[in-house]
Amino acid sequence: MAWSYLPYLPQELDELESIWAKEQQEAAANKATSQKTKERSLQSPPPGDAKKGANLFKTRCAQCHTVVESEGNKIGPNLHGLFGRKTGSVEGFSYTDANKAKGITWNEDTLFEYLENPKKYIPGTKMAFGGLKKAKDRNDLITWLREETK
Ligand code: HEC
Repeated sequence: MAWSYLPYLPQELDELESIWAKEQQEAAANKATSQKTKERSLQSPPPGDAKKGANLFKTRCAQCHTVVESEGNKIGPNLHGLFGRKTGSVEGFSYTDANKAKGITWNEDTLFEYLENPKKYIPGTKMAFGGLKKAKDRNDLITWLREETK
């Protein structure tokens, strides 16, 4: 009988078909995710040069800030744990109202804008720093800060 040559029973065929449909769906979802990842990496700048960032910190920020938790506050607040924290939230540092009231969270984007021109981003800040005008410098510094403030 021809039946005996069928490798699968009709019931198994149904199952196979639904497995196959699921696999198709998953493949489509994976494709969409990887497309999104690609788009995101095209939008955000490539990681900066952490070595150059270290040097920028030393020459432009270190007279007023440290990233080492145990070293506390200097002229400016301690920058340990900076990423993900709200403006003006270091205990024991006497901020201006302007800095406290800014109310944003420090991350790559907010730092990128702030460090270009601190007095423009936070009018009334007492941070006496003119800003890093070159996007590449800010990117290098932020790349270093992201690791060193952890
Ligand atoms: C002359 C000293 C000085 C220099 C130089 C300086 N800062 Fe500041 N910074 C301050 C002071 C003071 C404040 C607090 C401002 C306020 O309360 O208005 C501050 C605030 C900040 C804040 C906000 C912190 C918070 O908790 O909200 C960040 C971030 C920061 N500085 C990063 C930097 C970086 C990065 C550099 C180097 C590119 C730099 N600063 C250079 C003195 C300085």
